[in-house]
Amino acid sequence: MWKSELLELVKTFNHPAWGITHFERIYELSIQLASMKKIDIDKDSLFAAAYLHDIGAFEPYNKKGEDHTDIAVKESEDILLSMNFPEEKIALVKDMIKSHMFYAKPSDHLESIIFHDADTLDFLGTIGITRLLAIVGNEDWTPDLKNAIKLIQKFYNELPAKLITLEAKKICEERKSEMEDFLKNLSQQTDNFNLL
Ligand SMILES: [Fe+2]
Ligand SMILES: [Fe+2]
Repeated sequence: MWKSELLELVKTFNHPAWGITHFERIYELSIQLASMKKIDIDKDSLFAAAYLHDIGAFEPYNKKGEDHTDIAVKESEDILLSMNFPEEKIALVKDMIKSHMFYAKPSDHLESIIFHDADTLDFLGTIGITRLLAIVGNEDWTPDLKNAIKLIQKFYNELPAKLITLEAKKICEERKSEMEDFLKNLSQQTDNFNLL
């Protein structure tokens, strides 16, 4: 069964910001967005995209200087074919992966738009803050705490405008206020971030 083979393939991809639990969250969030929109989305394609979209960030797939999205789009076809995933759905999975980052412009497929919004929402709110703080000192995005807080502020300022669906924008409202509270309190307690 392709699902268990796929889970087996990614089972070692533990990462506090873009590992298996992130895959699970955006799978569930995409289902939630689809149900808020009262539409059916292809759950097979969603599952495959959710578990493969960030594999380009992991060994043995990652390559220096190449975007993790491009790697995942390329690798996903062979991976899915080897698992007997329904071949006719592979094009949609690749389209969803290609669309996933907040800086990507998603295609017109509803699945890709929803998936893009789910991945973007996971960078917002308490979970977004948690993910970025979890990788301080370990990833280029967050060399130290001050830079991680700057990135949280940047995501707060810029990512809400990247959301496309009204449903994601609705979820975003609460996440924005969580970030506002966090940043306000942190600023007060650290002399405007100077004592971080
Ligand atoms: Fe990604
Ligand atoms: Fe992701």
